Amino acid sequence: MATTRNLAQLFRALADKDVIGAASIATQICKSEEQKGHRSAARLLRGALHANGTNGAHTGNELSFAAMNGSSLVAAALARLPTDVDLKHVILATGVRRELDAVVIEWSKRDSLREHGLTPRSKLLFHGPPGCGKSLSARALGKAMGIPAYVVRFDAVIGAYLGQTALHLRQLFNFAETNPCILLLDELDALGKRRGNPLDVGELDRVVVALLQELEHSRPQGLVIGTSNLAKHLDDALWRRFDLTLEFKTPSHTALSEFAKRVASEKQIKLPAMVLRRATQAGNFADAESLVVAEARRQVLKGL
Ligand SMILES: Nc1ncnc2c1ncn2[C@@H]1O[C@H](COP(=O)(O)OP(=O)(O)O)[C@@H](O)[C@H]1O
Ligand SMILES: [Mg+2]
Repeated sequence: MATTRNLAQLFRALADKDVIGAASIATQICKSEEQKGHRSAARLLRGALHANGTNGAHTGNELSFAAMNGSSLVAAALARLPTDVDLKHVILATGVRRELDAVVIEWSKRDSLREHGLTPRSKLLFHGPPGCGKSLSARALGKAMGIPAYVVRFDAVIGAYLGQTALHLRQLFNFAETNPCILLLDELDALGKRRGNPLDVGELDRVVVALLQELEHSRPQGLVIGTSNLAKHLDDALWRRFDLTLEFKTPSHTALSEFAKRVASEKQIKLPAMVLRRATQAGNFADAESLVVAEARRQVLKGL
């Protein structure tokens, strides 16, 4: 039988109206029953899961299993990301903020744009060093646009057979074309290395080709966002398929110092000069944050 932990995850997903998450957990429960040799239980559970799909009338932003085209691949390959961050809270260079605000406005006025034969920009590429807000901005855009954000798990997309990967990508893009959401293709450089690189294995080449085709033809309802830490490793052809590419640069010392002070005040701690200095030199927001949080932990434990 499903473990209490499985069930708790399922209940949590349902409470959050996270249909993708719920379907993904339900699929895992079916699989584990099959692996244990409980065939009739697995059949019963799978039947129930798919019956949900055929009834799945859905409205507005609510996603149903039917909206996933009954595809357990979509459920397995997408992980829901929290969309609890305000774009205002993300520290961004002026030009980047201007563009992201413009993307949100274009989306909210998409009907007016379409009346004039125009479309909102919907395929974005964020590049720059790690820990500088690329994934965070994708989540914040979800909140600003009022739509869910999902990160693609490439391990679930890459299939064992020729053509399978392309089919999987088609299903994911089809999902993004029928459901307003943020589809995050995180750390694309792992896949989108320049084709022809002698180190590349054939399968990765195939993924890039399939991705190129999808990006070329896709008209997502929300946004498809690719991110890369190593933009120069990205295939030039892939680069051109995006409507907007934004660089998230290494933050200045001043930005890092202000950020460290902000995190310290959120955690309600006094920031020792030494920690502030180290955070200022951390080179990225994620590391600066870790230093301040470690200090907060230390102070709390010391005070206990
Ligand atoms: N620009 C930023 N503004 C505020 N916090 C940030 C910023 N960049 C990174 N952080 C902090 O570091 C964490 C990791 O950043 P992330 O967006 O995942 O980096 P990456 O650019 O590698 O995708 C975030 O969840 C957030 O807590
Ligand atoms: Mg990231």
